[in-house]
Amino acid sequence: MGEALGDLKRTCYCGDVGPERIGQEITLMGWVNRRRDLGGLVFIDLRDRAGIVQVVFNPETSKEAHTKASALRNEYVIAVKGKVAERPEGTENRELKTGTIEIQTKELFILSESSPLPFHIDDEEGEAAENLRLKYRYLDLRRPKMQRNVILRDRAAQAVRDYFHEQGFLEVETPFLTKSTPEGARDYLVPSRVNPGQFYALPQSPQLFKQLLMISGYDRYFQIVRCFRDEDLRADRQPEFTQIDVEMSFIDREDIYATMEGLMKAVFKNTLGIDLSLPFPRITYDEAMARYGVDNPDVRFGLEMTDISDILKETEFKAFADVLQRGGIIKAIQADRDLSRKDLDGLHEFARGLGAEGLNWVKVGPEGWPKVSGPLAKFLSQEEKAGLGKRMNPAPGNILLFMGDSAKVVNDVLGRVRLQLGRQLNLIPSGVFKFVWVTDFPLLEYDQAEKKWSAKHHPFTSPLDDDLPLLSTDPGRARAKAYDLVLNGSEIGGGSLRIYRREVQSRLFQTLGIGPEEAKEKFGFLLEALEFGAPPHGGIAFGFDRLVMILCGAESIRDVIAFPKTQKATDLMTEAPSSADSRQLAELSLRMMVPK
Ligand code: AMO
Repeated sequence: MGEALGDLKRTCYCGDVGPERIGQEITLMGWVNRRRDLGGLVFIDLRDRAGIVQVVFNPETSKEAHTKASALRNEYVIAVKGKVAERPEGTENRELKTGTIEIQTKELFILSESSPLPFHIDDEEGEAAENLRLKYRYLDLRRPKMQRNVILRDRAAQAVRDYFHEQGFLEVETPFLTKSTPEGARDYLVPSRVNPGQFYALPQSPQLFKQLLMISGYDRYFQIVRCFRDEDLRADRQPEFTQIDVEMSFIDREDIYATMEGLMKAVFKNTLGIDLSLPFPRITYDEAMARYGVDNPDVRFGLEMTDISDILKETEFKAFADVLQRGGIIKAIQADRDLSRKDLDGLHEFARGLGAEGLNWVKVGPEGWPKVSGPLAKFLSQEEKAGLGKRMNPAPGNILLFMGDSAKVVNDVLGRVRLQLGRQLNLIPSGVFKFVWVTDFPLLEYDQAEKKWSAKHHPFTSPLDDDLPLLSTDPGRARAKAYDLVLNGSEIGGGSLRIYRREVQSRLFQTLGIGPEEAKEKFGFLLEALEFGAPPHGGIAFGFDRLVMILCGAESIRDVIAFPKTQKATDLMTEAPSSADSRQLAELSLRMMVPK
């Protein structure tokens, strides 16, 4: 049972009471973070979202409040009226804003009691298991670490809105109950009661709507918007996530890069106080794949890859010879640190676990190249050593790691070995933010299963002007006016210039094997709109959760979303998803086929 609030009014946040208030009478409200009973005196750490303040109950100030304070337990909600005073010498904590003062309580009101908690709110106590935290998310969100994340997220969103408004952008909302949008994941479907047998799809992104807004003339659009994708979840993926979605008309790629770099600068300045230096470096997709094996390179450290297939084209090492015979490639990474036999065996196993045959290596002796040891050493001819020495310039003590396989496996697995090695050797600095634009993505990719070309991004992405003729001759080589922004190895945004000319769109559909009927059925409204005066346009969308995760230094996207889902797309607190009763199903004209 709690006491009534009555006409009590809070004066300020607990965490904001500083020495400037010494001598003032104030009223605070918050949660009991900790209670200490020191003989005659009771001390409470009182907490709210701004921080913690020390509250003292002294029988000499108020006998009644002191007696009442003995009933307090962790997480009780209380109000205290009292005087701000300097702490006795020697008891200050200069690291806290409130660390040199305390509240001498005259009146205590117990507003709400609390049952014992399933876990501690104090961060120092160590983190509870995530499932427990998600079940009691409202308690988890009381933790200072989570509050910092939630507050920083709000600040980032505010910075985004301020920046775009200063730049003349309009925020326009787009529908959630809509038709499938082409982002390549599975849709979440919502049955329509009034149209039996028909479904809305929740948007995977506002892609088509933002293009329509360009056709409507709202030439600078943005939206902080929820998107829904039914896909396999990972630490940086949620089934519903937030995008900073942007579209602009009458622009080229340079305008997008410059505007988005300005956005990142504003966000970093207003959240972390960091001044980013602009412009961000750029790398083409081909170069990123060649040097890092991935299209989201972490450029905070080196360990770049070198293709050495040509040097080893006559290799005596059978496994590599076979790989080259089959059209595969061989790449190498050079580490300028010593690695123990155990480390090397560990990396070999790591690579095998990811589906590669393994990892081979040589170590450069103290006399320097070409004196090498290690399993591959005896297979390297004088000529090959000369070639490797020239291309990789190895120093004494360096280790060269080699992998041969199909290009896909080498890039994928060696790319991950690179990250693993970077972590193992402590080469990845923390507190550093390295952006890179990845440009000129391939327009299409070949779908082996379906035996046809499909759009790598979406089918409205414009090809490079010079590559248009390739659509009929060599579609795989056509590049797109598409770009990603990568931060510390994480794809935080991606977009493209769109096709706005009907004939280019038709040629692309032809290459994709999308006939007029199918095109009309899937995106008829957009194609029709393109007939009515479509301006040249393009845009981008950022993964807002991913960006905030990096700003907060969080390990998981779930730590920056107030109410996230688990890896299995469930909400442990509300227990969603849940079954529907037979009346609801009947109203929706649905019948359940899941065995009981
Ligand atoms: P794309 O599909 O690349 O582009 O998405 C843009 C950004 O959204 C983030 N993201 C996700 N974040 C969390 N959970 C997910 N499941 C998830 N999926 C994507 C990523 C990604 O870079 N309409 C286009 C944009 C455009 O062309 O303008 C689009 O949605 O950070």
